Amino acid sequence: MDNSSPDQFWNDIYQNGARGSSGKPGLLLAQFAAPLRPGRALELGCAKGDDAVWLASEGWQVTAVDISSVALELAAGNAARKRVADRIVFERHDLSLSFPEGRFDLVTASFLHSPHDWPRSDVLARAAAAVAPMGHLLIVEHGTRAPWSWSPEGTRFPTAEDTLAEMRLQPDAWQRLCICRIAREARGPEGQTARVEDNVIFLQRGDG
Ligand SMILES: C[S@@+](CC[C@H](N)C(=O)[O-])C[C@H]1O[C@@H](n2cnc3c(N)ncnc32)[C@H](O)[C@@H]1O
Repeated sequence: MDNSSPDQFWNDIYQNGARGSSGKPGLLLAQFAAPLRPGRALELGCAKGDDAVWLASEGWQVTAVDISSVALELAAGNAARKRVADRIVFERHDLSLSFPEGRFDLVTASFLHSPHDWPRSDVLARAAAAVAPMGHLLIVEHGTRAPWSWSPEGTRFPTAEDTLAEMRLQPDAWQRLCICRIAREARGPEGQTARVEDNVIFLQRGDG
């Protein structure tokens, strides 16, 4: 586990890493969210804002959250440059401690991982609780470790089914649209590439 505080750890990453954004949404977010009718979206762990900007440009009204004030500043600049700032509200939360108000038609969390000891399953369960009736929950997470990852070599990630089980959702309240692992070619910070696998948990809440 990293010894710096979580906000310091993530601020250092965004302060010292590439500050520009890729300008592209996550592959799996774009694939799974594109067919949905836009409404209110909540993004957890928005980093430099590429997913939030994409959702906003698709017509969603977005609340985007991160623990890192540096990331949020970069994300706000990104949204302004893409002229979608009026469709995104950025909020700083340590999701272990606080959570945005409201219910959303889409709640999405991509690679919401951290080297700190934190109640990730509880945060993901809280994300599910924020989904409005008939709304969707999309969680994309590492299924395997990329060679450039900060996670220690040999780290084994849970399967999508494991993550879902740890969230302890009421099974009959949700339709399981996709609980799977998908392979892709990933690009690292130095431009290096590797084949990795991502878990996808894509659910729709019932109307109850
Ligand atoms: C691995 S990055 C993923 C970023 C982005 N969603 C993506 O798909 O590339 C994890 C993000 O979650 C944020 N994060 C980590 N722990 C958090 C916490 N406790 N509360 C809120 N955000 C957190 C980090 O600052 C970081 O931006």
